[in-house]
Amino acid sequence: MAGACAAAVTAGAVVAGTIGAAAQTPAERGAYLVNTVMTCHNCHTPIGPNGPDMARALTGGTPVFDTPAFKVRGSNITPDRQNGIGAWSDADIEKALRHGVRPNGVPLAPPMPTGFYGVLTPADSAAIAAYLRTVRSSPNKVEMPVYKAAIEREAFPGAETPADPATFSDNVKLGEYLVTIAHCMECHTPREKGRLDFSAIGAGRQEFKGPWGVSVSRNISSHPTKGLASWTDAEIKRAITEGVSRDGGKLKPPMGYGFYARMTPADLDAIVAYLRTVPPRE
Ligand code: HEC
Ligand code: HEC
Repeated sequence: MAGACAAAVTAGAVVAGTIGAAAQTPAERGAYLVNTVMTCHNCHTPIGPNGPDMARALTGGTPVFDTPAFKVRGSNITPDRQNGIGAWSDADIEKALRHGVRPNGVPLAPPMPTGFYGVLTPADSAAIAAYLRTVRSSPNKVEMPVYKAAIEREAFPGAETPADPATFSDNVKLGEYLVTIAHCMECHTPREKGRLDFSAIGAGRQEFKGPWGVSVSRNISSHPTKGLASWTDAEIKRAITEGVSRDGGKLKPPMGYGFYARMTPADLDAIVAYLRTVPPRE
């Protein structure tokens, strides 16, 4: 008996320590999505001297997105009923994610990448809602958003409707899903008069200003010289997870390298497999 028990404990530890997607609860799956590939903290957790201040995780207030059309801040998405989203139903949270509309009907400004989140599978959007209920509640009151023009929501091509998880056995399909929910192409596609230029997906060329100065997103299409075609898989993964370019140069924010670093190796492999299929862009 004692022997069998020890064996069972060991086996359990191995499963818990490795992966076992099948054994994940919805809240665990939601934690994985929120804290790694979907980088929610990049916009919903205040930045401290050493990056996102996880003691104030998801309490909002910064960053501030100030444009001619709106001035908004990352919201408090902890379960506080007054100042967070504790009073929202699961359906309310999923509607905000996938359709960009609050329970009171007011649309969310586009820094919240709902145009990409339309692709979320029903299981994954439910998982995110389940996880958000478990995070530490904070009464932090975020300044009200100001809208100076009508909010236009733009669905990213392919993200209009939920993906079919049955297709995820194909690594490229899984990678496409992950790259979409990670909103990689929101930063890595040039903008024309503020709108993403869908004819140049992956070409980069967007400028980001912040405490780091200025960074310009790079070409991550499969272009032979301007994109990633000649990079090795390991070089691409190092750029995504460590923020180190092919030549060893340090890459700047706002890309959330530290969050992507905690993705599973299988998910990273799928992302690389998909990036290799992105048509070459100049
Ligand atoms: C690139 C920045 C960005 C990312 C990434 C992002 N958000 Fe947001 N989110 C925002 C901003 C900005 C707002 C407020 C928009 C407004 O006020 O119109 C917002 C609003 C929301 C709201 C509505 C809250 C309210 O009180 O109205 C929810 C819910 C939300 N985000 C959840 C998430 C979750 C969950 C993730 C990750 C899966 C995420 N967001 C990722 C920027 C972002
Ligand atoms: C919030 C904007 C943003 C998001 C989201 C984002 N990136 Fe980036 N990425 C950048 C910027 C800006 C740079 C260039 C930084 C610099 O030059 O210092 C960059 C650099 C890179 C590089 C290095 C390319 C080179 O030539 O060195 C790769 C590869 C990359 N990103 C892939 C991705 C992938 C894959 C995703 C999604 C999983 C992603 N990025 C999400 C903004 C973003």
